[in-house]
Amino acid sequence: MAQSALILGGTGLVGSHVLKHLLESDSYSSVISVGRSSTGIKHPKLVEHIFDLTEMDRHADLFKADVLVCCLGTTIKKAGSKTQFRLIDYTLPLKASILMKQNGAKSVFLVSSSGADSTSRFFYLQVKGDVERAITEVGFERTLIFRPAGLLGKRNEFRPGEKIGVGVMKLLSPIMIGPLRKNRPIKAENVAYVMTHLPSERISGVRAYESHEIQTLYDSMS
Ligand SMILES: NC(=O)c1ccc[n+]([C@@H]2O[C@H](COP(=O)([O-])OP(=O)(O)OC[C@H]3O[C@@H](n4cnc5c(N)ncnc54)[C@H](OP(=O)(O)O)[C@@H]3O)[C@@H](O)[C@H]2O)c1
Repeated sequence: MAQSALILGGTGLVGSHVLKHLLESDSYSSVISVGRSSTGIKHPKLVEHIFDLTEMDRHADLFKADVLVCCLGTTIKKAGSKTQFRLIDYTLPLKASILMKQNGAKSVFLVSSSGADSTSRFFYLQVKGDVERAITEVGFERTLIFRPAGLLGKRNEFRPGEKIGVGVMKLLSPIMIGPLRKNRPIKAENVAYVMTHLPSERISGVRAYESHEIQTLYDSMS
């Protein structure tokens, strides 16, 4: 049976591809996009709600669908501080998860990051590990965590540091073998394809997919 989905971050690099697939897929009957800006897409299956996500509690009843798809995120530079970064990458996804679960959602699909680890000495990876753990504890029937390494794809904004880092990783990709495979960069559109085409109804509990596993799934599905 077709499901309803609510997407956070549908205007972003991964999220925009995810949104496109959700709208095209017969597995999803309706899609709600919640964000601070419009996706600019008009589609009979799509309903958009635009507001400041820190005011989520005031719109709690809107957070109602079978599946929460969270592609929300920022960078510490863009957020302006570690506190703001944590708000966007931890607090908002967690709050949305709690509201969705209270309103009956069965599944959450979370875009996290390779290396996510609450005990990491790197703040970014620590926050990603924290959000994975906290959302897992919300207790959905199905928690699917996607951990891409550097994302490849065309952005509207210029992120020179990220571009260089991901470019270097792309060059090194063929020699990233064994435990290093999870650091292989991956196209954002491939991540989105796998998120929206996995036979998720056959999966239960908590599953985390590393970057190379997402790529392998993509190769077997596309
Ligand atoms: N970049 C990488 O190489 C990389 C690697 C591994 C994992 N990741 C993770 O993958 C996820 C998706 O990354 P991405 O590159 O697709 O992200 P992105 O292009 O930067 O998009 C981020 C999304 O989050 C929304 N957002 C950011 N700050 C917000 C705020 N204060 N209020 C409401 N919405 C806000 C953006 O909305 P607006 O359009 O309104 O700004 C956008 O829809 C993130 O969690 C990221 O940490 C990224």
